[in-house]
Amino acid sequence: MTLLVTGGAGFIGANFVLDWLAESSETVVNLDKLTYAGNLETLASLQGNPAHVFVQGDIGDADLVSRLLQTHQPRAVINFAAESHVDRSIHGPGEFIETNVMGTFRLLESVRGYWQALDAPAQAAFRFLHVSTDEVYGSLTQDAPAFSETHRYEPNSPYSASKAASDHLVRAWHHTYGLPVLTTNCSNNYGPFHFPEKLIPLMIVNALAGKPLPVYGDGMQVRDWLYVKDHCSAIRRVLQAGQLGETYNVGGWSEKPNIEIVHTVCKLLDELRPKADGSSYASQISYVTDRPGHDRRYAIDARKLEQELGWKPAETFDSGIRKTVAWYLAHPDWVSHVQSGAYRDWVQKQYAAPGAAA
Ligand code: NAD
Ligand code: TYD
Repeated sequence: MTLLVTGGAGFIGANFVLDWLAESSETVVNLDKLTYAGNLETLASLQGNPAHVFVQGDIGDADLVSRLLQTHQPRAVINFAAESHVDRSIHGPGEFIETNVMGTFRLLESVRGYWQALDAPAQAAFRFLHVSTDEVYGSLTQDAPAFSETHRYEPNSPYSASKAASDHLVRAWHHTYGLPVLTTNCSNNYGPFHFPEKLIPLMIVNALAGKPLPVYGDGMQVRDWLYVKDHCSAIRRVLQAGQLGETYNVGGWSEKPNIEIVHTVCKLLDELRPKADGSSYASQISYVTDRPGHDRRYAIDARKLEQELGWKPAETFDSGIRKTVAWYLAHPDWVSHVQSGAYRDWVQKQYAAPGAAA
C-alpha cells in the first residue's frame, strides 16, 4: 500500500509525512517542487528510510505524475502542494494561479487517467484528498457564526481565490467524472517546521533576533488557530472515513486576535528565554501598514468532522503554542538554515548521500 503526497516538504505536508511514517509502514511517495517553501531538512530524520520516496517535481508535470502513479500504484493522493502565503500572492499572483489552479487541474487529470484504468475494487478504494483553507469563505463580521461547510465561497485575496478555484475543480472532477474526492478546509496552522514568513514563526524568530515584531493595522484581525499535528490527524481521519465528495472544515475552536497571539509568544519567550536586560520581548512590537484587502475574521465550525467522524483537536491553543515556542528554541540550526537560505543546500546533500531517498 502506498500514498502519493504532494507538497510534502512544506510545513503541513512534512508534518503529515513525519507523523504518518511514525505510525505506519505504508510507503509515502513525496512529490514536491522544492520552491522556497519546500525544505528537505525538515525530513532529515527520514533519510535512509525506504518507506519514504522523495521526488522533486511539479504537480503540473503530467508525464512525471502519470509515471509516478503507474510505478507506485498509490491507493490515495493527498494534495498539499500550493503557494500558500497571502502577502506573496498580493505581490505576485501569477505563481498562485499556476500552481494552485493550473497545477491542481493537471494533477486531477493525471489522477483521473490513472484511476479510470484501475480495476473496480481498486477504483472503489481510491481517494483523492485535497487540502484547502478556510480563507475560501472570505471574511466574517465580529458576531457572525463561524464558517460551516455550506458557507458560500467569497475569497478576497489572490491566494484564497486560487484555492477556491482549486476546490471547485476538485468538486467538479467528482461530479463529472466520479473521481472519489475528499476536501478539507482548515484554519490557520502553527507548530514545528513553519516557515518564518507566517505570523507565529516570524514573531518567534524576530523576537529572538532583537528585530521589530510587525503587526499589521490595528492587530485586531481574528484567526482560528490549530496545532499542525491536529490538522494531520484530521486529514488521516477524513482519508479513512470521509464520505466521497464531501468537504470537512477543520479548526481548533480557538479564535484569537493577532495582537493577542503576539503577546502570548512574547510572554512565553520572556519565561523560556528571558532577555539579558530584563525587558519584555513585547517592547519590540511595531504596528505597521495593514495588508491590502486584509480579511478581518476567520472562524471555523468543525462540528461536522466531530459529529460524523469523531475527530477533535488534541491540543488547546495554550498547550500547542507552548510546544511551538519550545520547538523553535530547541532547533536553532533549522531556523538559521531557513533564514540564511542554507536549507536549500540540503537538496544536494540529500541526493548525494548514500541510501538517500530519490
Ligand atoms: P507551504 O507553503 O509551507 O508548503 C507548500 C509546499 O508545496 C512546499 O514544499 C512547496 O515546495 C510545494 N509546492 C509548491 N508548488 C508546487 C508544485 N507546483 N508542485 C509540487 N510541489 C509544490 O504550505 P503549507 O502551509 O504546508 O500548506 C499546505 C497546504 O495546506 C496548502 O494547500 C495550503 O493552502 C493548505 N492550508 C494551509 C494552512 C496554513 O495555515 N499553513 C491552513 C489551511 C490550509
Ligand atoms: P499569516 O500567518 O500570513 O496567515 P493568513 O494571512 O493566511 O491568515 O497571517 C496571520 C495573521 O497575522 C493575518 O491576519 C496577518 C497577520 N500578520 C501580521 O500582523 N504581521 C505579520 O508580519 C504577518 C506575517 C501576518
